[in-house]
Amino acid sequence: MLQIDNLRKTFDGTKSERRSRVVAVDDLSLRVEEGQMFTLLGPSGCGKTTTLRCVAGLEHPDRGEIVVGDRPLFSDKRGIRLAANERGLGMVFQSYAIWPHMNVLKNVAFPLEVLPRSKRLPKKEIRARVERVLAVVQLEKMADRPATNLSGGQQQRLALARALVMEPPLLLLDEPLSNLDAKLREEMRFELKRLQRELNITAVYVTHDQVEALAMSNRIAVMRDGRVEQVGRPREIYERPSSRFVADFIGTSNFIDGTIESHETGDIYLVGTPQGRIRGSSSADLPVGEKVAVSIRPEYVDVQKGAAPTSDVVGRWSGVVQTRAFLGESVDHVIRVGELELRARCHPSLSFPPDTEVTVTLQEKMCSLIPVGE
Ligand SMILES: Nc1ncnc2c1ncn2[C@@H]1O[C@H](COP(=O)(O)OP(=O)(O)OP(=O)(O)O)[C@@H](O)[C@H]1O
Ligand SMILES: [Mg+2]
Repeated sequence: MLQIDNLRKTFDGTKSERRSRVVAVDDLSLRVEEGQMFTLLGPSGCGKTTTLRCVAGLEHPDRGEIVVGDRPLFSDKRGIRLAANERGLGMVFQSYAIWPHMNVLKNVAFPLEVLPRSKRLPKKEIRARVERVLAVVQLEKMADRPATNLSGGQQQRLALARALVMEPPLLLLDEPLSNLDAKLREEMRFELKRLQRELNITAVYVTHDQVEALAMSNRIAVMRDGRVEQVGRPREIYERPSSRFVADFIGTSNFIDGTIESHETGDIYLVGTPQGRIRGSSSADLPVGEKVAVSIRPEYVDVQKGAAPTSDVVGRWSGVVQTRAFLGESVDHVIRVGELELRARCHPSLSFPPDTEVTVTLQEKMCSLIPVGE
């Protein structure tokens, strides 16, 4: 549906940057399938907005190719560059500009009314389409209200309706929920996801909020310095981060330094660490002796009272609780195992005070191996 190949976009550097070019997007390629909610996720300044603006036609890329369906929108090699208004894409920005002097209905109808005469629909059809879209975003009862008399979430839905009314093949959303308070943002997440699924819209969604990305997306591309660091389903990105950067960015993770001792079956390796042996998986080919970091999320570290009876079970170690924190839905423990401080997230029914001797079991299916240096 959307295909981006080798996209590069630089900006003029300032004097203090010695006029060197600022590389905002660096050789970025990605594929978005029809009906997908595809999220660009990454820290501030990593090039998310610039990528979206290149697709929309609001930035002129240095090079690369952007194709929607079978229609090339930009290609430096083929000398193609469609103007933004010829691309026919829907966009919702962080600052959703609604028109304050129009009511809800007019706001949504406006993009259809300003189309060139040859493409414009008859008045009756415009009205029907607008009403349909307003029903979808559940604003049909407010059609006559001035747009300024809407709550933040309603204005957000109005901005969405205005993008949807064009029935774009591709919807571009740049942090569309960032102006909302936490509660409303959570509601709108589900709303947006529901709309996207019901209308079978293909959307590229930009956010720097990992929870939002995990909750909403079919696929996530984690970006770093203008490049894609990892692409995958939310669960894959969360459970099998391919680099330390991704693991760190997506949430708290434990990293245990170790060395590959042997290759077992499939993608499972045995790893030696100062704390003991552990099994983990990697899709990469790792030679014996390779230095790796074993990444495991706190929720996959099981804790039991009492020291381990033997030290020869792989992935089962004795430790001592250092601190704990009650987080409502869980209790976080920091557990010292030799020199290592391991974070474990437990069900609130399990809470161990400091200095308790415990056994930790690292769920081996959830241990992913990251080659050191990545
Ligand atoms: N018009 C511009 N002129 C110069 N540099 C720019 C311009 N627009 C963006 N940049 C730079 O390009 C890089 C990527 O910016 P971009 O806005 O795409 O980041 P982002 O991932 O959307 O960040 P955020 O999460 O903060 O919105 C940044 O280093 C930014 O300073
Ligand atoms: Mg941005």
